[in-house]
Amino acid sequence: MVKVVVAGASGGIGQPLSLLMKSSPLVSELSLYDVVNTPGVAADLSHISSPAKVKGFLPKDDGMKHAFTGAEMVVIPAGIPRKPGMTRDDLFKINAGIVRDLIKGVAEYCPDAFVLVISNPVNSTVPIAAEVLKAAGKFNPKKLFGVTTLDVVRAETFVAEITGESDPSKTTIPVIGGHSGETIVPLWSQAKPAIKIPEDKLDALTNRVQFGGDEVVKAKDGAGSATLSMAYAGFRFAEKLLKAVKGESSITEPTFVYLPGVDGGDAIQKETGCDFFSVPVELGPEGAKKAINVVSSANDYEKKLLTKCYEGLGGNISKGVEFIKNPP
Ligand code: NAD
Ligand code: LMR
Repeated sequence: MVKVVVAGASGGIGQPLSLLMKSSPLVSELSLYDVVNTPGVAADLSHISSPAKVKGFLPKDDGMKHAFTGAEMVVIPAGIPRKPGMTRDDLFKINAGIVRDLIKGVAEYCPDAFVLVISNPVNSTVPIAAEVLKAAGKFNPKKLFGVTTLDVVRAETFVAEITGESDPSKTTIPVIGGHSGETIVPLWSQAKPAIKIPEDKLDALTNRVQFGGDEVVKAKDGAGSATLSMAYAGFRFAEKLLKAVKGESSITEPTFVYLPGVDGGDAIQKETGCDFFSVPVELGPEGAKKAINVVSSANDYEKKLLTKCYEGLGGNISKGVEFIKNPP
């Protein structure tokens, strides 16, 4: 029996993600929380003949308390998305407070839940979540994840356009670092099975993964950012975690975690200088079982990308930590 909360359930990501959750046999109860429209989204989804019982909650009448109590997993796509010309960091002003308040709810009503943060800027909202949980004495680093799966999904898709692989998801590509621009680092040299990328296509391919989000923001022309591919990616990560929690072994996916709190993370923290970093993480019943050090085996091209990643990511992380430690 697994109760899953989607916080931000009425939004562009929230609705298709809730649909995927409702379709999953791994979910027994689906709790939809948002500041608007959850009664309608819940009524709609509740007609689907899958096992999960769906309920919608708004902030009134202690809605967060009822939505969150007893949850084993809370997925957070709440917050504003980008418009053309904005960076993810431009979202900080509004989304930092939204994530802080939702995590306060997690600390109070379901402190043992796995928390999956989608809201941008992920590089800062995950440190915010960690600090709020720490302040409440409820931080379990094995249970807090920044969802960077969309970068992995994009890498798989874009490289297949070059290699000609007919099923892009058959190639595993570690995409590590953070979730914005140059902090996103695809490690093509560590793809499994190995791939060959022509030299003259490498920069453009790497750039496309790093700035894939901009491609969608531009195409949507003011109507938001990636929602459907994000719902797919968010569900892919959530489903892997739910399977690992149920005891399935050898499940690994890159995700943005607090390195010192995860087995194997200390060495990666020393090497990168970053407390939070996305690396392939083996998932298990307790959550993050082991962080896998793919950083040290990066090739020279990837090492240059990593240097730029560290420069940007450190500041994003501190900004999130400071927001809670020294509130503005
Ligand atoms: P959206 O505006 O369509 O939906 C956001 C939803 O959050 C809305 O329904 C809104 O009412 C709700 N919300 C606002 N404040 C809330 C609160 N305090 N509590 C609960 N719900 C609240 O936006 P979207 O396109 O779904 O994107 C959501 C977020 O996800 C954005 O920050 C976006 O940048 C981010 N995102 C992240 C990734 C990733 O890879 N991690 C990918 C795509 C988008
Ligand atoms: C993405 O990568 O698509 C998301 O982070 C949304 C965005 O702002 O680009």
